[in-house]
Amino acid sequence: MTPDGPFGPDSPWTVLGATADALRGAMSHFPTGVTVVTSGRGERAEGMTANAVISVSLDPLLFLVSVHVDARLNSRIREENAFAVNLLADDQEGLSRLFSSPERSSGLPAVNSLGGGYGTVDAPLAAGAIAAIECELQEIYPAGDHALFLGVVVEVRTGDTRKGPLVFHEGGYPTLKAGPKPEETGAFMDSVRGFDARASRFRDRRR
Ligand SMILES: Cc1cc2nc3c(=O)[nH]c(=O)nc-3n(C[C@H](O)[C@H](O)[C@H](O)COP(=O)(O)O)c2cc1C
Repeated sequence: MTPDGPFGPDSPWTVLGATADALRGAMSHFPTGVTVVTSGRGERAEGMTANAVISVSLDPLLFLVSVHVDARLNSRIREENAFAVNLLADDQEGLSRLFSSPERSSGLPAVNSLGGGYGTVDAPLAAGAIAAIECELQEIYPAGDHALFLGVVVEVRTGDTRKGPLVFHEGGYPTLKAGPKPEETGAFMDSVRGFDARASRFRDRRR
């Protein structure tokens, strides 16, 4: 903190107050994964791009999605009492854009766009997604212009986990720079250990 505190001329902070634009702007710097949340079968199918999703509890297994009160998905989850959360892969930006468009179709065209048939709770799945988490609705919490849907997880399925996740950041979809995978780190550590062992044998011989 500067000598003048958080409001002085040398403050590193830009104070924006408590407005929707300020909150949206600050959160735009916070990268998230992207999902398509679905509910309903056949003509009743609905899907919506969402990043306000949380794995809430492991015992019991609880999962939460936040959906705008005016979104079509909001009323559909209330009717179906179930939803599926498809975790998108880095080659599924098109699905994210489609399912965040107000002009998108509901029903069978939506199911076909997702292309993965139906899961355990009869909600559409996205073919090529990294994973899908299927929930039966337990509770709805009103939260301003959104509703929080808390679900009991009844199925977890993984898809193509070799793909990277789709990331949303500053209004776009940046490519995540790939770091070493844990197994590669393990192989690296094994080679380091092997090198250490050889080096210490070499040192022992020279003593
Ligand atoms: C990356 C991304 C994440 C989003 N996350 C949410 C979310 O968590 N909850 C929500 O209600 N809308 C979210 N939206 C906006 C909805 O996808 C979009 O407004 C959609 O059109 C709403 O459905 P409707 O057309 O039936 O109103 C998100 C949009 C994008 C692009």
